[in-house]
Amino acid sequence: MAVIDHLDGGYLRQALEHDVRTGLTSTPRWLPPKWFYDETGSDLFSRITRLDEYYPTRRELEILRDNAADIAARSGADTLVELGSGTSEKTVLLLDALAAAGTLRSYTPVDVDAVTLEAATRRLAADYPGLAVRPVRADFERHLSLLPRDGRRMVAFLGGTVGNLPPAAREVFLKELRSTLRPGDTLLLGTDLVKDVRRLVAAYDDEEGVTAAFNRNVLHVINRELGADFEPDAFEHVARYDADNEWMEMRLRASTAMKVRLAALDLSVAFESGEEIRTEISAKFREEGVRAELETAGLRVIRSYTDPAGDFALTLSVR
Ligand code: AVJ
Repeated sequence: MAVIDHLDGGYLRQALEHDVRTGLTSTPRWLPPKWFYDETGSDLFSRITRLDEYYPTRRELEILRDNAADIAARSGADTLVELGSGTSEKTVLLLDALAAAGTLRSYTPVDVDAVTLEAATRRLAADYPGLAVRPVRADFERHLSLLPRDGRRMVAFLGGTVGNLPPAAREVFLKELRSTLRPGDTLLLGTDLVKDVRRLVAAYDDEEGVTAAFNRNVLHVINRELGADFEPDAFEHVARYDADNEWMEMRLRASTAMKVRLAALDLSVAFESGEEIRTEISAKFREEGVRAELETAGLRVIRSYTDPAGDFALTLSVR
């Protein structure tokens, strides 16, 4: 299988070292959410998507089920490019709709994880004979310009993952993405919407503690990859809504004072009791805000779709 790989030559390793050094020596401390997703983290995230409290995945699927045909017709795409494709679970709804519309020719899943990419590629190539599956291993924040440029494309960025980028990075990302599109190419963007705070907090602080384990997993990743001695269980999972910024935040709070050694970085970090590391923001949008951000990036909204409860939105825009 020919995975085009933009992450070889130690790219990921360097990015991790850079992010961890920068984040843990900043005040306040932070870590970017991309490092949650090793094999264990990806499994934990799959479990999150099946929790009662975590509505976004179900809502987005619902929207796709109801509107994939309309999205396919309006996009007219022959090539589907999916950023952060993961298991490509929702993709089949788009592929089926594009196939039914008679335009579908190729599919490019883009993900950082080679194992996930290969599994999705194998499955989809078997299920869709005649479909050219061209997987690309890349970091969607860094390698947008390297994605295939032929065909009439629809780029799908689902799950609300765009909300994990802080506003300034989001603006850069959308502008860069727009610059890789040609006139007539479309973007299908998934965004979680502002709603009752209790439901938001519950979605990021579930009863069973799956999200807490997902949050702490980043410390296991750092221990393994950078020879660090974090005690993940000494950090408490914190999920809170920032109403001014309209985003959810996850943090890890040191339950006692401690000193952590990161051998590969030749770095020691001292935590006071109660000191926190911010590990994720997850922006909650309003439909007019999504439209404004897309327009600032030079994309015109064709249609916005939501579920009957108004929990989640998919926005189709065109260059
Ligand atoms: C990666 C955007 C789908 O921000 O809701 C789930 C990741 N974090 N629970 C989100 C996540 C905590 C998720 N997405």
